[in-house]
Amino acid sequence: MKVLVVGSGGREHALVWKIAQSPEVDQVMVAPGSAAMAALAECHPEVAASDLDAIVRLAREGAADLVVVGPEDPLAAGLSDRLRAEGVAVFGPSAAAAQLEGSKSFAKAFMARHEIPTAAYRAFSDLDEALSYVHERGGRSVIKADGLAAGKGVAMCESPEDAERALREMMAEKRFGDAGNSVVIEDWLLGEEASYYAISDGENFVTLAAAQDHKRALDGDLGENTGGMGAYSPAPVIDEEVERRVLERVVRPAIAGMAADGHPYVGVLFVGLMIDSEGDPYVVEFNVRFGDPETQPLMVRMNDDLVPLLKAAAEGRLDPATKTNWGEAAICVVMASEGYPRDYPKGRAISGLEAAEVDDHVVVFHAGTRPSEDGSGYETSGGRVLGVTARGETVQAARDRAYAAVERIEFAGSQFRMDIAARALARD
Ligand code: AMP
Ligand code: GLY
Repeated sequence: MKVLVVGSGGREHALVWKIAQSPEVDQVMVAPGSAAMAALAECHPEVAASDLDAIVRLAREGAADLVVVGPEDPLAAGLSDRLRAEGVAVFGPSAAAAQLEGSKSFAKAFMARHEIPTAAYRAFSDLDEALSYVHERGGRSVIKADGLAAGKGVAMCESPEDAERALREMMAEKRFGDAGNSVVIEDWLLGEEASYYAISDGENFVTLAAAQDHKRALDGDLGENTGGMGAYSPAPVIDEEVERRVLERVVRPAIAGMAADGHPYVGVLFVGLMIDSEGDPYVVEFNVRFGDPETQPLMVRMNDDLVPLLKAAAEGRLDPATKTNWGEAAICVVMASEGYPRDYPKGRAISGLEAAEVDDHVVVFHAGTRPSEDGSGYETSGGRVLGVTARGETVQAARDRAYAAVERIEFAGSQFRMDIAARALARD
């Protein structure tokens, strides 16, 4: 089988790494991919993830038996619809279904309609109305740009003054471009965050696993929201009983609700959750693709072949009795550029990559690197640079290995959190 993966980041590196191990797969192609993926896949740097025409052409000319779409933007733009119309099997939702992530107001209205637990909210497209609302309401609130903002369009506001600043940044100054034309203002949920992953063929679903992400830039969950500074799986807050609630209250009604609303959901449903002190789950967000960096530990932890699941989902023949199998624990520590999530420099030489992977429990996934000019190695080219990922018999073992590997890697101005998975350990 030939599989085409769309994307170029750490998540796609992890997907390519996993897919390439499948005995069913003869060849992996990736568009555009990255230099670090070239050892595993045929990269097509000339094909951007946003160039739907070129991707459809590559899928046809390369005779791909399955296309796996990494990022949300091409999904929201209708890549899956285009491929399906050409008779190509694709793992990823239609543009209509991708609104679950692409529009916060769509997702909130969907959850209200299908009685899926989430924070109470109001949607606004007028700045003055939004401003009067936050001042009237007082207290804390969470403000979200309606559209896609690479996971950064969320402001946690302690006061109406904070909220006012965030609203002006999003709606007037357009910090997130058109994504901020309208906003959702919602209650601030308390509890512990975790995410949960299930694969659906539009009707049935198979569960993957839970993970926990670290979205803030700095240790102790301080600093700005980022795309994710690290992740681990499993998430101890999602014990058996909580998982049952997540399946019954969220995953099942979401898959059934999307089908009932006329946009059956095909792909991976990534549910961002807040688990309250009673163990009750509330949806913080839906994403319509694998998480980045959660995919890195998920792929390293998964003991099954992922490809038959992706193919069955894409072809509408998923067996809901399928149980997936997982190793004990895995963790990913993201090494980011100085300044991320705001402006950052590029072109800093990276050393120590080979030494980091001497331990065969460790895999370094590349998120933002490129070959250095003299061809001797890699240099930085993105905000998130590397996802240093390790598995272990315990979270502690996985964590020790990941940080030992991080210690071996250097680039000027590198920043990473020291407390990835610390919360899981504090529970033991
Ligand atoms: P989102 O892009 O919607 O996932 O939001 C990014 C992050 O903001 C989440 O992972 C949470 O940490 C936080 N967040 C979003 N909505 C809420 C909420 N209603 N209550 C508390 N935290 C939230
Ligand atoms: N790590 C969060 C995300 O992929 O949206």
